[in-house]
Amino acid sequence: MTILVTGGSGFIGSNFIRNLLQSDDASVVNLDKLTYAGNSENLSGVDGSSGYTFIRGDIGDTDLINDLLTTHKPRAIINFAAESHVDRSIVSPEDFITTNVVGLFRLLNVSKDYWNTLTKQEKGAFRFLQVSTDEVYGSLDAKDPAFSETNRFEPNSPYSASKASSDHLVRAYHHTYGFPTLTTNCSNNYGPYQFPEKLIPLIILNAMDGKNLPVYGDGQQVRDWLYVTDHCEAIQSVLNSGAVGETYNVGGESEKTNLEVVRKVCEALDELRPSASGESYKHLIKHVTDRPGHDRRYAVDITKINKELGWSPKKTFESGIKETVQWYLDNQGWIDRVRSGAYREWVVKQYG
Ligand code: NAD
Ligand code: DAU
Repeated sequence: MTILVTGGSGFIGSNFIRNLLQSDDASVVNLDKLTYAGNSENLSGVDGSSGYTFIRGDIGDTDLINDLLTTHKPRAIINFAAESHVDRSIVSPEDFITTNVVGLFRLLNVSKDYWNTLTKQEKGAFRFLQVSTDEVYGSLDAKDPAFSETNRFEPNSPYSASKASSDHLVRAYHHTYGFPTLTTNCSNNYGPYQFPEKLIPLIILNAMDGKNLPVYGDGQQVRDWLYVTDHCEAIQSVLNSGAVGETYNVGGESEKTNLEVVRKVCEALDELRPSASGESYKHLIKHVTDRPGHDRRYAVDITKINKELGWSPKKTFESGIKETVQWYLDNQGWIDRVRSGAYREWVVKQYG
């Protein structure tokens, strides 16, 4: 019962693989290009276990994918591989088109051709699950209802436009070829192993170093935060019981402004590692130039996945954020190794 996971060395993929191997007797083949965001150390706990195989490679390498599919004969493919950081997509959009559109297209096409070679029974059991984002729906005003699966796609950044393109391709491959696809559109994740370019780990690490905590614009933008293992469980539910061809929204029912999030992180740090001066880390908060085209609000309606599959988030933001802060405090070695030269260059480029 092998599952091919692509992009499994990143933040969500590594959490997913660890959870799957702990809770299931599945075997996993992880194909990851190990870009700046991919880190084999994220899976050091499962590396070497009998159910786990790692292959370094690109989802756009059709020969490699073909080889992997015929060798390992997976019953499912879960695609996490993507360029995932909105700010980077504003600075260097082409990488996002290369992986999130062209790479995804090639992975999808080779997978569909492989699926066509299977027996009737194998074909019926096979699934291709695309892990996507709520950002494809665009931005909400304060009083708008949360995104449902029937919302129009209105992506606003090169990142979200590339993810919307991949979602459209996945939809088309189901509609045109009958390829058994599933798509999840999830809100902002947080938790262990998140690369410190994203808001929550960036704020934790800067505060630990006594650096400014950069809040874009007025900090009143709203995101719907979900603890990463809750997202992983949602993906498993959709994989096991989702209706073929369908999309499922996944969210934390936990809308917060960015300023609220940054303050919560500071409060957790004040409790878990008070500053030497005894002053709250909040004094480091600094409003900086806003992100171009910054979406104002995301919120996700989880009625469909809740009613059809019985999934809902387990972790509250209050407990999840404390555990996350504690994880970063306990993993200084991981932080030091992740902050390589490439990461430092990005921080200088983005924040000066
Ligand atoms: P991440 O940037 O931490 O990890 C991405 C992984 O993909 C890395 O390991 C990287 O090496 C790999 N990768 C990149 N290009 C590749 C390629 N061409 N071939 C093979 N591997 C490649 O991202 P993440 O936060 O873990 O997100 C995973 C997926 O979930 C993405 O598709 C993202 O769009 C989606 N998503 C993320 C969030 C979030 O809040 N982080 C929310 C909703 C959806
Ligand atoms: O909504 C799901 C998406 O969430 C995923 O699809 C993306 O892969 C993931 O990166 C995330 O996108 P965001 O742009 O919402 O996440 P980020 O952590 O970059 O930023 C969260 C909010 O915080 C956003 O409104 C921008 C703001 N921000 C971010 C950074 C890095 C700041 O104010 N300061 C910062 O330094």
